[in-house]
Amino acid sequence: MALSLDYAWMTEPAVPGGVRAEEWPALAERYRQAQASVVATAATGVYGYRELEAQAAERARVLAFAGRVQGQYDEIVVLGIGGSSLGAMALRTALLPAAWNARTVAQRQGRPRLHVLDNVDPRTIAGVLSIVALPCTLFIVISKSGGTIETLAQYLVVRERLEQAGLDPARHFAFVTDPAKGALRAIAERDAIPVFAVPPNVGGRFSVLSPVGTLPAALCGMDVEALCTGAMVMRDATMGADLAANASALFATLQWRAHTHAGQGQHVMMPYSDALRDLAPWFVQLWAESLGKRDADGLSVGPTPIASVGATDQHSQVQLFMEGPADKTVTFLRLESAADDVVIPAPGASAPGLDYLGGHSLGELLDVECRATAGALARAGRPSMTVSVGAPDAWHVGGLMMWLMQATTIGGALYRVNPLDQPGVELGKRLANHELGRPPSMPEEVTEVPASASAHRVRVG
Ligand code: PA5
Repeated sequence: MALSLDYAWMTEPAVPGGVRAEEWPALAERYRQAQASVVATAATGVYGYRELEAQAAERARVLAFAGRVQGQYDEIVVLGIGGSSLGAMALRTALLPAAWNARTVAQRQGRPRLHVLDNVDPRTIAGVLSIVALPCTLFIVISKSGGTIETLAQYLVVRERLEQAGLDPARHFAFVTDPAKGALRAIAERDAIPVFAVPPNVGGRFSVLSPVGTLPAALCGMDVEALCTGAMVMRDATMGADLAANASALFATLQWRAHTHAGQGQHVMMPYSDALRDLAPWFVQLWAESLGKRDADGLSVGPTPIASVGATDQHSQVQLFMEGPADKTVTFLRLESAADDVVIPAPGASAPGLDYLGGHSLGELLDVECRATAGALARAGRPSMTVSVGAPDAWHVGGLMMWLMQATTIGGALYRVNPLDQPGVELGKRLANHELGRPPSMPEEVTEVPASASAHRVRVG
């Protein structure tokens, strides 16, 4: 597994405010305590995302199902939101060839397109439903809880369309949900819909290696075994107590230290690879929902993750990163070798001033720009780290995702929060449910959506 972390530009004297040589023993000790607490908590069985061996039987069911239905569907549509959809999107971008959904059947070697609905915006849902042929579409409804209103609303819309078309739900739906509880489990049992389990100890944003990610991946021909093997190798390599030898721990500890000791709590994730670009929003959810909350003393803590993409955002956010508030760290994600690289032709007489570009490749240009941006930030006194990924294949992507999930778990211990819960999203859900007329399960759940004062509203046109 080739995955490495370069953190020189998180240290002094390279970058002012970075880690000083004399600070390392205290940081190593702080990490050692965090690691001990993670190991003790892991023993209680709550970090199910790490227990990939225990998920082998369900993974085999996923692979058997994908094998059985191969050739039956031209379109896979994932219905879900948050941790139930961002992982599939990241896998699709990383592991399927570029412009997958625009390719012909032959170019896709008969494998289906993959659409992921991550919202309830009617424009997007109507748009996808208008281009897929229902008789050759499988809708995968993914909800760990089985009770998320956005996903259930998507499901009801699709179910009506299938019924209107006279199609059997049992052939056009597959569900991924809790093994025993929730509305989806009950519907699956009643209607004989194929259903796959998310283990109770695997939370949404940590679930990409469960059927939440592996079912869409397997149906589109991604190498699920390699994905999970890479993740297991990385899991075993990144839980040790020695900070200096543990890249995942260094990432978490240096981000935490930048935030709490140097006021740099804005954490930019910036892939310089289109294959890895959807890992940034996946990471943003993981880092934000896991770490932004009240700590053990009730204080509001947590970093603010920001998704960016190179080189595109050199023409957008990098101005802010260079000269705006010095409250950020940037993590560059780069590939060690670009897949399908393209050589830039020598322009010759047609554009003599561009001779310097000829003979370089686009992958080389992207990588030079990554290193140049990191160097420019360092020269401006702005910290960064670079994660180098051997190749954009299933093994490395599984490893990288595990690496970031482990870092998030360590981050939980460093910030002294539970990385697995999300109490802050509950009130908004209750207000929306009340507004929609859902009966409260407890009287105190009835809560009006607060009205904004009309004196503070302005309408134009
Ligand atoms: O990370 C999380 O737990 C959340 O983002 C959930 O994934 C999201 O709310 C969807 O939940 P569910 O899978 O229960 O529908």
